[in-house]
Amino acid sequence: MTQDELKRKTAEAAIEYVKDVAIVGVGTGSTVNHFIDCLAENKSYLEGAVSSSEMTTERLKKLGIPVLDLNSVGELEVYVDGADEINPHKQLIKGGGGALTREKIVAAASRKFICIADQSKQVDILGKFPLPIEVIPMAQSYVAREMVKLGGQPELREGFTSDNGNPIIDVHNMDILDPLELEKTINNIAGVVTVGIFAIHKADLVLIATEDEIISF
Ligand code: 5RP
Repeated sequence: MTQDELKRKTAEAAIEYVKDVAIVGVGTGSTVNHFIDCLAENKSYLEGAVSSSEMTTERLKKLGIPVLDLNSVGELEVYVDGADEINPHKQLIKGGGGALTREKIVAAASRKFICIADQSKQVDILGKFPLPIEVIPMAQSYVAREMVKLGGQPELREGFTSDNGNPIIDVHNMDILDPLELEKTINNIAGVVTVGIFAIHKADLVLIATEDEIISF
């Protein structure tokens, strides 16, 4: 099976958890794109979706799924999203696609966060994947210096601006032994909009597609 087929497989597995949900929170990325396709094929109960990015909004609309404003729907029952890394505690690195801020907002506003991924995303310790941090433009250099103090090697994501109009710094070589503490520490740096560690709002359920099965934990 190709990686893309595994992504489709985990997306199909997630559909079982949203079949009777009226409003679904939808993440961003190539795995989620499969989930959106599956959602469009299983939308008898669906009233609409809350989107985490312009890219997702476009795909949802194209497939006839109404996109709703988070401010008008209250708490969401379920949020489905991918990840760049997943540890055994269901803590994640996200933001490879640059949508981390809206993803974190929709995850926080949802009762259940289902993370879907192929097996390549599973790690013991987070940090091999460069840690994305969305920052206020004028704080870019300051935040980068603070990340050096924390042991990382920051690199500006060239030619990229988030949906919120901000740059993203990718921080290499972080060994994230305590994701919860590091998320709080980075959150406290002035100028940080969002760090791509999802430990405060980690996944509630992870669905990993392998060749043979769906592993859930
Ligand atoms: C986007 C994300 C994505 O969920 C993450 O990058 C995984 O993407 P993909 O499913 O394409 O591997 O956090 O900001």
